[in-house]
Amino acid sequence: MLALVLTVGLGDVEVASDELWTLGVVAVEERSGVAPGSVELWTSLGDDVSSVTSSLEGLGHLWSWRFETVDERVSETWRDHATVTWISDDLFVRPAWLKGAAPDVDGVQAISIEPGATFGMGDHPTTVLSLRALRAVMSPGATVLDVGCGSGILAIAACLFGATHVRAIDISPAAVPTTVDNAERNNVSERITVSTTPLAEVDEHFDVVVANILAPALIDLADDLTRALSPSGSLVISGILAERHQHVLDALAPLRVVDRADLDGWTAITLAR
Ligand SMILES: C[S@@+](CC[C@H](N)C(=O)[O-])C[C@H]1O[C@@H](n2cnc3c(N)ncnc32)[C@H](O)[C@@H]1O
Repeated sequence: MLALVLTVGLGDVEVASDELWTLGVVAVEERSGVAPGSVELWTSLGDDVSSVTSSLEGLGHLWSWRFETVDERVSETWRDHATVTWISDDLFVRPAWLKGAAPDVDGVQAISIEPGATFGMGDHPTTVLSLRALRAVMSPGATVLDVGCGSGILAIAACLFGATHVRAIDISPAAVPTTVDNAERNNVSERITVSTTPLAEVDEHFDVVVANILAPALIDLADDLTRALSPSGSLVISGILAERHQHVLDALAPLRVVDRADLDGWTAITLAR
């Protein structure tokens, strides 16, 4: 399989890792000592060279990068360390290969995820925040648009929270089969449709729109996110830094902020008309 290797300055390690997470990687390994003052970040965005290249063009910074062919078994060692993530007292996300990793207790729901080459194990703060914010705005029978569905985790959660129909889209082709598989795994496939349809071509309106994507993408998509929202709908955004998000809100004006929560330096914001 193809590893993606970014070479960044020591001072850029954190911001580069953050940007990689929001692009959809599931693990990042730091390797120092390659060249003075720089660090290599080894990760993977799948084996489709053109889609990885276009994802990298969306990064907020220009770092040098290359592909390396690696042994799949080595690149999969993160799986041995994956654990359950609790979202609330009654909801947790479980790596699909960890059977029985959390107690089977009445009233507790589990979302089981096999991420493949997509983002969305449920352990990243932006996903945790998005899941909580999504739950807060859901009402039974709501329709939902999940923009940047990755593993499908938010679309699946929306079904557990009562959605009758969820449309899930992502620019990454890998997200489509992964979301389909995860929807089946969680018994909600009849309520989810998934595609790589660009948001600009989605012409329905939804009670809830959720988008856990990098700030530059949210800004690019701002008009279409607003257009896809029904008149009384809620927009949940994440993938943005708690310290720096006003430029995203400016792009989404006149939508107004109705709720916000932060976790580990990230923020999720709920907006409405
Ligand atoms: C941070 S991941 C979120 C995955 C999952 N929704 C979650 O919350 O864990 C962001 C996803 O957005 C996708 N993405 C980035 N730009 C996009 C765009 N313009 N339209 C649709 N999807 C996009 C990426 O491919 C990636 O799968």
